[in-house]
Amino acid sequence: MSFTIAIDGPAAAGKGTISRALAQEFGFAHLDTGLLYRAVGVKGGDPLKAAKTLAPEDLNRADLRSMEAGEAASRVAAIPEVRAALIAFQRDFARREGGAVLDGRDIGTVICPEAEVKLFVTASPEMRARRRWKEVGQGCYEDVLAQVRARDARDTERADAPLRPAADAVMLDTTEMSIDAAVAKASEIVSARLGR
Ligand code: CDP
Repeated sequence: MSFTIAIDGPAAAGKGTISRALAQEFGFAHLDTGLLYRAVGVKGGDPLKAAKTLAPEDLNRADLRSMEAGEAASRVAAIPEVRAALIAFQRDFARREGGAVLDGRDIGTVICPEAEVKLFVTASPEMRARRRWKEVGQGCYEDVLAQVRARDARDTERADAPLRPAADAVMLDTTEMSIDAAVAKASEIVSARLGR
């Protein structure tokens, strides 16, 4: 059986936590597609060459979670040829036997428009910046907020695969929601679609 859960949304909205929890609960494989773009961004050199030659060990680098890697990712992610080079891997992952959860920016719109469940997870920029700032554990909140806003702008305004909800995505605004409540809501939606 293949069953795809597509989770999109801006930085630090809670996509990662929700995706990992769903994968664990339903026994699905999980792909954080942001890591692909982060790995291409930090590799340096020609981004298209980096995307075409991306290897599994590139996804294990310790520095992929840094703010700098996120920044580099959102720059290379605006290059259409880089996005195109990463499509086949993501689609294969999505349709693998046993079910898959993919989180990113364009999973429900471009990578898997046929996904069985599509969620768009969002929260106010201030709340997302606060979460990211706590997670990083250094620097000043205002700088993190400025970076969140800059990355939102770049992701939503790019011409190729901009960040936007699919027409049939379920919206999940986590601004006023605990992460447990958000996971419970997402799990309810998946269970209903699986007929459990
Ligand atoms: O964890 P966070 O939301 O901060 O970032 P991420 O999901 O790791 O993504 C980093 C950057 O990669 C984003 O700002 C996007 O520009 C890009 N990205 C994308 O364009 N498409 C995806 N499917 C995933 C990430």
